[in-house]
Amino acid sequence: MLNIVIFGPPGSGKGTQSEKIAEKYRLIHLSTGDLLREEMKKGSDLGIKVKNYINKGELVPDEIIIEELHLKVSEHKNAKGFIFDGFPRTIVQAEMLDEMLSKKDIKIDIVLNIQVEEEELVSRMMGRAKDSNRSDDKEDVIYKRIDIYKEQTFPLIKYYKNQGKIVNIDGMAEIGKVFEKICHAIDIYNSVKDR
Ligand code: C5P
Ligand code: MG
Repeated sequence: MLNIVIFGPPGSGKGTQSEKIAEKYRLIHLSTGDLLREEMKKGSDLGIKVKNYINKGELVPDEIIIEELHLKVSEHKNAKGFIFDGFPRTIVQAEMLDEMLSKKDIKIDIVLNIQVEEEELVSRMMGRAKDSNRSDDKEDVIYKRIDIYKEQTFPLIKYYKNQGKIVNIDGMAEIGKVFEKICHAIDIYNSVKDR
């Protein structure tokens, strides 16, 4: 099994890279942001519950996210592995994820830390706003999401550093180059693991 967390600020390219990684390594891509947006579109109870948080750029409470993630992981009993995109966002979520996986006798193998400068993040999200149709790709909400990242999510780097799992990836390059670096990191990890 291979379980990866892709970590980085909003607009760092987590979703784009996750799709490529999932395809190449045959992993299940679990994007909590995509899941929540689908629920909003459907107008489900969950969608209605999370809508206000998302539109303001705030984080949905841990319990809601964790329950949803648990359901999704359980749907894929025979998965070769997962790529967790946009989750965990808080230390509590990271601890719950570790606990949940350890009950299944699995663990996070690698945490890809995608590094992109703030100015670039804003310009990417503003640039995609026309096509993304995302209610949170608006200037004030974009800044709010970056602030929330710094406050609540950035501290996770230390959490995963302590576990020796962080791999820094320069996310400023073009998509293909970033993907190459990610594959390199994964392949090294796999070759050491298989030895
Ligand atoms: O991951 P993504 O950027 O797509 O997430 C969009 C929004 O979904 C976040 O700004 C936040 O409101 C919500 N979200 C969350 N907790 C997560 C993932 C997403 O609250 N673990
Ligand atoms: Mg995303």
